[in-house]
Amino acid sequence: MRFFAALLLLVLAFAVAETRRGEGLENSRGRKRLNSVKRLPNNCKEYIENGDKYLDCQDCQLTAVLIGWPEDIDHFLLAQNKIKVLKDNTFSHFPNLISLDLQLNEISLIEEGAFSGLSKLTTLLLQHNRLQVVSEAVFVPLPRLRYLRLHDNPWTCDCQLDSLVRFLQVPSNRYMGNFAKCAEPTRFWGQQLKTLDPKLLCSPPMQSQVQLPRPYSDTTFLCHTHDSPRPLLDCRSRGLNAVPHDIPENTAKMDLAFNNITQLRPKAFTTIKDLKLLNLSSNSLEHIDPAAFSGLLHLRELDLSNNSLHFFNYGVLEDLYYLRTLYLDGNPWICDYNIHYLIYWLKHHPAVEHTGLVCNEPEEFRGWPVESYVKTYNAECPKDKLVDLNRGNGPTSQELIEGIEEEPGLLPSPLRKKKKPNEFEIFRLS
Ligand SMILES: *[C@@H]1O[C@H](CO)[C@@H](O)[C@H](O)[C@H]1NC(C)=O
Ligand SMILES: *[C@@H]1O[C@H](CO)[C@@H](O)[C@H](O)[C@H]1NC(C)=O
Ligand SMILES: *[C@@H]1O[C@H](CO)[C@@H](O)[C@H](O)[C@H]1NC(C)=O
Repeated sequence: MRFFAALLLLVLAFAVAETRRGEGLENSRGRKRLNSVKRLPNNCKEYIENGDKYLDCQDCQLTAVLIGWPEDIDHFLLAQNKIKVLKDNTFSHFPNLISLDLQLNEISLIEEGAFSGLSKLTTLLLQHNRLQVVSEAVFVPLPRLRYLRLHDNPWTCDCQLDSLVRFLQVPSNRYMGNFAKCAEPTRFWGQQLKTLDPKLLCSPPMQSQVQLPRPYSDTTFLCHTHDSPRPLLDCRSRGLNAVPHDIPENTAKMDLAFNNITQLRPKAFTTIKDLKLLNLSSNSLEHIDPAAFSGLLHLRELDLSNNSLHFFNYGVLEDLYYLRTLYLDGNPWICDYNIHYLIYWLKHHPAVEHTGLVCNEPEEFRGWPVESYVKTYNAECPKDKLVDLNRGNGPTSQELIEGIEEEPGLLPSPLRKKKKPNEFEIFRLS
């Protein structure tokens, strides 16, 4: 009995000691930060460590840098998000930045002015992304840059990469671009950008290295290719039932008008990254897979006129960052709940012009612009359920979003997901 009591005491004492130790650790580790962590929209956190201000948005599912975040920060952690494009001036309102961590995103395009205004930046992490080409001009606005990570990107070592390769090889840039390697073309595969002879990039491959002619291919067999001024693939009126499989990767314009294509399969165009114009006019399209246009980051014009489309699935347009014109005439658009995605997407992409979005069904809306139908739909919503995301005051957006999330079916799903960045409040955790 006494033995057990003693044992029990010992166990208790040990447990208490362990708890204390845990608390102690927590305190010494957490004290400096805990009091000053601010929670921000999208689960971002702001805190001060060793006198430097951090904005930590790691692993927050972000697709872009939003407006309304604190701007006087020194370190910006954006690793492990889903950012695909860095547009001009993305960071220009963070003039104090010393380090910027963008690793583990899906970045495939950096516009030349993306980093402008970052005159104090010394460290830029871009490893584990999808970059194929970046021009040296991107780094010109960064006079203090010393550490640049570029490895694990699928670099395409051709003439377009010439300026970057030369920049990385300047002796004072010795901490920049180490371990970055070519993924294309085959003759340079695995070679380090740091050691590649830049003179070879812009010279044509030697005879023995010329690629073998393509094997039998339905596009070259069926379609006409024109190489100037831009690579154009003309597959008009060829009786095609589907998008051909082996479209040349450098195609800039593709004309598939007057065929008999009924469906677009997922990722049908992913390999033609430079496509600027896609003409699918006068086919029999009824269904477009949500991933049909994935990867078409540079597409500017999409012609879907004269088809049999009723609505767009959620997600169909999400990759089309640079779309400017969408031709939708001559489709039997059905004005019901499913059409809302298209309207909300257009509303959030005001630079995109569109034509021909007119209701065909139901009878009562035939001939109405689809936008007018959506307006009446919203107006008919019962007052107490009406959620107007454009309202400037009223409930905080946090309440709005919670409110919406509790009301599934009240609004189409893309709207529920879309958060309005500049309406969030910053609140302090005590
Ligand atoms: C289009 O394809 C469908 C079935 O795939 C076929 O029934 C129809 O005749 C075709 N139309 C033309 C004009 O080729
Ligand atoms: C698509 O092709 C149709 C038929 O040839 C043509 O009328 C239309 O202008 C083309 N669209 C674009 C955007 O070039
Ligand atoms: C759509 O088809 C109609 C009839 O076939 C034709 O008159 C019209 O020019 C076509 N529109 C486009 C944009 O190709």
